[in-house]
Amino acid sequence: LPSLSLLSKILLSAICFSDTTSEFSVRLYHQLQVAGGQDNIIFSPLSVAVALGMVELGARGASLAEIRQTLGFNHLLPGVEFSLLQNLTAAVSNDDAHCVIRFANSLFLQEGIAFNPEFLHLMRKYFRAQVETVDFSQSAAVAEQINSWVENQTESKIRELLSAEDFSSVTRLTLVNAIYFRGSWKNQFRPENTRTFSFSKDDGSEVQTLMMYQQGDFYYGEFSDGSQEAGGVYQVLEMPYEGEDMSMMIVLPRQEVPLASLEPIIKAPLLEEWANNVKRQKVEVYLPRFKVEQKIDLKSSLQGLGIKNIFTSDADLSAMTDGKDLYIEKAVQKAYLEVTEEGAEGAVGSGMIALTRTLVLYPQVMADHPFFFIIRNRRTASILFMGRVMTPEVIEPNDHDFDSI
Ligand SMILES: *[C@@H]1O[C@H](CO)[C@@H](O)[C@H](O)[C@H]1NC(C)=O
Ligand SMILES: *[C@@H]1O[C@H](CO)[C@@H](O)[C@H](O)[C@H]1NC(C)=O
Repeated sequence: LPSLSLLSKILLSAICFSDTTSEFSVRLYHQLQVAGGQDNIIFSPLSVAVALGMVELGARGASLAEIRQTLGFNHLLPGVEFSLLQNLTAAVSNDDAHCVIRFANSLFLQEGIAFNPEFLHLMRKYFRAQVETVDFSQSAAVAEQINSWVENQTESKIRELLSAEDFSSVTRLTLVNAIYFRGSWKNQFRPENTRTFSFSKDDGSEVQTLMMYQQGDFYYGEFSDGSQEAGGVYQVLEMPYEGEDMSMMIVLPRQEVPLASLEPIIKAPLLEEWANNVKRQKVEVYLPRFKVEQKIDLKSSLQGLGIKNIFTSDADLSAMTDGKDLYIEKAVQKAYLEVTEEGAEGAVGSGMIALTRTLVLYPQVMADHPFFFIIRNRRTASILFMGRVMTPEVIEPNDHDFDSI
């Protein structure tokens, strides 16, 4: 079989489409950042794009135009974006032992309203999605039904997405969007190198966290925006997951510089600059374990970015159903990400690995203060997750009896 896998490698490297939604992703990040205070952030730009693509399939007129405009699809011929989204999700959808990515996107429609067969056909074709019907007047039962559907699609990592209060007797259509990712690092951290470590938050306080450590070959670069806006030089580290298609990029300001002063410079072309300029080299990495989870009200976020029409009674979703009075009442996304030594829960040892810090031979990335991250597909530039860690996994002093480094 070696020749077969070689063939599939060659085919994969010939992929010639790439994501065009990074501008949208960055704008959404900035919106969450403004609303987010000192909280961690996590969302999935690709998953939002897919969910909006599903709505766009059923939209016409201004409803359709706003989605194309905001997602950055205007330079494509009409309809080509569906094939693009299909290809982008196919490029990240994975289900082997090393890497699991699950999208759970669906439209839930009031029972008794009929969809156009053509719309259902296209939903299956491009998004492999079924449309589900529910009776929104039974709000508690609907919440339970949707939540268990999402739970089932995400290995139970995303629970309690919606509650009965999310629906009213006039709800007709709800957009549900969840994503789950589990990846193994190409270079795993050795659990016995994990230690308790102080993490300095941007407000000046300190928390104890489990800090993972390794020296390994990664993609690394130092950048500066020229001005002092970002506090001068900052580091970018890209750590591939098994298979090297997916990677996590960590953007870390200098120790004394708060993440808040780096965030304003983050723009779509800069993401590309980072990706194109990090170089493979040996790096010494200290990265805290972390778990981030966030539920986003997409309705208010998307309205702020220019997608308004689908949420009003002026919405034109006439490609979806014949009824003219349909609009989206509720749109939520919940994303969950857990970063550990290997990607799955790993036991933390307390062995005695001496960390020699007298002589620093390689660049050192010490993520003991807030950082920005993206998880992306390195071939298509799709952004699976974007977010920041302001507080990593906090441990109480008595949880483990590690020595501090
Ligand atoms: C999606 O992939 C197919 C098969 O590789 C290709 O023919 C098509 O042009 C791609 N679509 C876009 C929008 O890139
Ligand atoms: C969960 O999903 C699987 C496969 O998608 C399906 O066969 C099963 O019936 C689902 N279970 C529930 C409780 O929905």
